[in-house]
Amino acid sequence: MKVTVVGAGNVGATCADVLAYREVAKEIVLLDIKEGVAEGKALDINQKAPVTGYDSWVTGSTNDYSKTAGSDVVVITSGLPRKPGMTRDDLIATNAGIVSSVTEQIVKYSPDAIIIVVSNPLDVMTYAAHATSKLPRNKVMGMAGILDTARYRHFIAEELNVSVKEINAVLMGGHGDTMVPLPRYTTVGGIPVTELVDADKLETILVRTKRGGGECVKLMGTSAWYAPGAAAAQMVEAIVKDQKRVFPVCMKLEGEFGIDNCYLGVPVVLGKNGIERMFEIKLNADEQALLEDSAKAVNDVMAAYDNLAAEKA
Ligand code: NAI
Ligand code: 2OP
Repeated sequence: MKVTVVGAGNVGATCADVLAYREVAKEIVLLDIKEGVAEGKALDINQKAPVTGYDSWVTGSTNDYSKTAGSDVVVITSGLPRKPGMTRDDLIATNAGIVSSVTEQIVKYSPDAIIIVVSNPLDVMTYAAHATSKLPRNKVMGMAGILDTARYRHFIAEELNVSVKEINAVLMGGHGDTMVPLPRYTTVGGIPVTELVDADKLETILVRTKRGGGECVKLMGTSAWYAPGAAAAQMVEAIVKDQKRVFPVCMKLEGEFGIDNCYLGVPVVLGKNGIERMFEIKLNADEQALLEDSAKAVNDVMAAYDNLAAEKA
């Protein structure tokens, strides 16, 4: 198996590191536009292997896509991260150009690859990669739901002083303030979270989850990378090892949940064919309304992307 990670910045390098030490693929290519950066980080990860003990091999590349040829899975993390005061949507003009040009190169050298987008604004960058690649929708997806759910799981575990492993949860919708938490579908060791955490406290956790990305940006001056890099690697692992894991993943909706032509996080099964199934779970009226609000917010940014693409054409 061969996996490429485009963008050797904070998220991309972390993702490549997790893929290597978990031996998700024997061959990992890390590519960046900045001269020498990907090669340097690849060397560093390879030199960690004798210490922690793994046999994956990372190859760095400065914008030479021939090294990525024949990849089974490609993760796109290239693009600007958020700085304090910026929303994810502020990144659209720069990152849309980057994600589209990277996708063209990826498809040229790895026409059968499954693509996982991480760059922000996530839902619309998944749209950009999907539109550029012209691949079927099960092969182009975005990573955000695992990260958002991980933040939510962490806060619940902290509140109840239990292992994060006991928290099972799903969040839907766009990667932003309109994400849709589903406490009804959150359990702690099989017990509904609503039985264990009172409503006010749960609401505070949900608000903190929605603002989880911004909280890290405020503290660090740039966006998070450990959890995002590991989350993208977890999606790669589910695909490469055909694990049939169930995760919230951003994909194109074509009428599911009553929403058409919009890229949103929904629960899916990930396996060797990419997205193998979507679970069209029942939402109550409030949840459905929140999902539709989220779709509207994503559609607005998709329209901004369409305008940019039309100006370029
Ligand atoms: P970073 O600035 O550390 O790394 C980005 C890398 O992309 C840089 O090394 C840069 O040289 C490279 N790059 C830029 N243009 C390129 C091109 N055309 N080809 C190849 N490489 C190129 O940023 P970081 O923190 O790694 O974040 C990357 C992206 O991921 C950002 O857009 C950020 O907002 C997003 N992100 C998304 C998350 C999610 O949940 N979906 C979570 C965290 C970050
Ligand atoms: C995050 O949620 C900024 O999307 C990035 O950390």
